[in-house]
Amino acid sequence: MNAQMPSMLEWCANPKGIADQRSARLDELFPPDIALKTRKFHRQLESYRMSPLKSLGSLASLLGVGGIWIKDESVRLSLNSFKALGGSYAIYRFVTEKLGEEVPVSVLFAGEARRKLGDLVFATATDGNHGRGIAWSATRLGFKSVIYVHKNTSAARIDAIRKNGAEIVVVDGTYDDAVRQVSVDAQKHGWQIISDTSWEGYEDIPKWVMQGYATLVAEAQEQLAGQGLARPTHVFVQAGVGALAASVMGFYQQLLGEQRPKTIVVEPTDAACLLASVQKADGKPHHFDGDLDTIMAGLACGDPSPIAWSVLRECADVFCACPDFVAAKAMRVYAVPLDGDPFIVSGESGAVTLGALMGIMQWEGARDLREALELGPDSQVLLINTEGNTDPDDFRRVVWEGGDPVPDPYKIPVSRSFGG
Ligand SMILES: Cc1ncc(COP(=O)(O)O)c(C=O)c1O
Repeated sequence: MNAQMPSMLEWCANPKGIADQRSARLDELFPPDIALKTRKFHRQLESYRMSPLKSLGSLASLLGVGGIWIKDESVRLSLNSFKALGGSYAIYRFVTEKLGEEVPVSVLFAGEARRKLGDLVFATATDGNHGRGIAWSATRLGFKSVIYVHKNTSAARIDAIRKNGAEIVVVDGTYDDAVRQVSVDAQKHGWQIISDTSWEGYEDIPKWVMQGYATLVAEAQEQLAGQGLARPTHVFVQAGVGALAASVMGFYQQLLGEQRPKTIVVEPTDAACLLASVQKADGKPHHFDGDLDTIMAGLACGDPSPIAWSVLRECADVFCACPDFVAAKAMRVYAVPLDGDPFIVSGESGAVTLGALMGIMQWEGARDLREALELGPDSQVLLINTEGNTDPDDFRRVVWEGGDPVPDPYKIPVSRSFGG
């Protein structure tokens, strides 16, 4: 294999990923009734529907696992990704605390929040989806929003945020630079930051964002039960700053303890800050040194969220990283499924967990990991398609034009896959 070619999959097992006791930290971040609370809030949103759970039975047979279940967030709140679940809940909690009482969402949306609280401005940094959710929520409450994007954010993503009513600021740097800049500017202008990542002294709001995601996990759990499955055996979750992954793992750890599914965190090779953190093995979150140059825009983060990391370092079993071609292939697999499986519209960050699963099951180089995870015919694997087509130009480049093709050494001979 040539030296330039990135590995299909890098991974590191988490030596601490065996937590079987409820920790005080988990209880604080994910109190046992948290999903009931977040669902009660989300149900009040007019466009709320449970997102579908789809089964890829034919693909599961091909890969040699018992089932593949996709929680399809591409249709969430008509915003194409799961992200608004967290941002909307965090803004709601912020507003509720300011008002000093719980007010029905319909009343808040009808102008009550604005009347009582005046001209608030919400601000955040984003690589697209989080900012869209914040703009959407702020506008519905009658507040302004200012969203900071980094210079590589695509025009389509910026446009989607602007259409939801936000003012946009483009920062000449990475997502992490945008996080720093918005924090300075918000202080100067008196804006309220609603960030999905935490820092010292700023934890409540990112905690609420993380809790908001619990709605999707609780829905998935209910939908799996409807299929006669008590729980998935494995969950793959993609990560940027790690808030979604922490939410999924916190939820299952609190619900099932030792019986929780094996959990695999997936990042882009060029933005693998959580993998870097577990590799350093000192229990602390670490910065990823690199240019974060990946098509997985939602995962292009160089710094883990410290509160998310505090959950992941206890609960995640394996951290892995994949190059862009793994995500690109999975977008095509989702879009053009095997006979009998539903097609799913999945963007770059949404698709990578399916790519990682396929790599683990089909690539000889991942045999050790496959065996360590005990992935096989008895496995019921839960994946989250965290976004749909959020960047139409790049989606066409990948799905129609075959962009980011699988390099020859990693191609799976089709005759072998189909036993021919
Ligand atoms: C589509 C998509 N998937 C996954 C993630 C990862 O979420 P987190 O940053 O909480 O790890 C993001 C983050 O923006 C995203 O946009």
